[in-house]
Amino acid sequence: MGNMNNQNSKPVLLDVAHLTMRFGGLTAVDDISFQAVDKQITAIIGPNGAGKTTLFNCLTGFYQPTSGTMTLFRDDKKKSLTSLPVHKIAELGIARTFQNIRLFSNMTVLENLLVAQHLPLMKASGFSFAGLLKFPIYQQAEKKALDKARMWLERMGLTAMADRAAGGLPYGMQRRLEIARGMCTGPCLLCLDEPAAGLNPRESIELRAALINIRNEYNIGILLIEHNMSVVMEISDHIIVLDYGKCIADGNPESIRNNPDVIRAYLGEPEGEVA
Ligand SMILES: Nc1ncnc2c1ncn2[C@@H]1O[C@H](COP(=O)(O)OP(=O)(O)O)[C@@H](O)[C@H]1O
Ligand SMILES: [Mg+2]
Repeated sequence: MGNMNNQNSKPVLLDVAHLTMRFGGLTAVDDISFQAVDKQITAIIGPNGAGKTTLFNCLTGFYQPTSGTMTLFRDDKKKSLTSLPVHKIAELGIARTFQNIRLFSNMTVLENLLVAQHLPLMKASGFSFAGLLKFPIYQQAEKKALDKARMWLERMGLTAMADRAAGGLPYGMQRRLEIARGMCTGPCLLCLDEPAAGLNPRESIELRAALINIRNEYNIGILLIEHNMSVVMEISDHIIVLDYGKCIADGNPESIRNNPDVIRAYLGEPEGEVA
């Protein structure tokens, strides 16, 4: 039996407790605690500089937090993420995208999706080059990787672009490719850092539909940092609001919309900029 959230007795996928990240004198993430429920979209919102990306960087092993704990519950197993390196966290099933797109821009779209599956391929090979060449295992793993890549190209509307260099794709397609790449690793938790930023209204609507599909069909949790308030309100099951590194609100979209602290944090932003 996995960990259960006391308030709503839903299975917890991720538990973050008292997480703090300091850069010199600046506390970017300040004693943040929250839980993400499995198979739900949990949004992390807050003004620019609130600490959202830093929180993702801690969760995915890019930064070692100053203090606090992060625990993943997968297949009824409890795994501490707290001092694991990036590749170990990826191996446990946490995939992410970046606020500034990071694809292998000289590789083709398809290659980007195959590289993402490098780890399972290497595992199938017994982590040796000889093993990789050993005919049946390699072929099996390779076919699986190709099938998976093709499926995600199709789902994200990128099939026609398979052989193009990733860096030459229009921006919205690069964003979709990043999500496809994350999904190709077979995650239990997909972390998206402002996936709708820079998308036109039509692309933004498609993205919403794609995320809801991923949640419903693949039964995974999604952590979503999002700039666009209407996207957040529409597709999130649960919202966490950060301001100056602190968690100022945590609840369902309705309660967040009407929370005076949240309204104040956003009204305090120059030009009403929210992220
Ligand atoms: N590597 C770093 N070194 C120093 N300060 C950082 C670093 N990363 C983020 N910060 C600072 O931490 C604060 C939170 O940044 P960030 O997490 O990027 O905010 P958000 O994603 O919510 O806009 C900002 O003041 C930012 O300048
Ligand atoms: Mg950010």
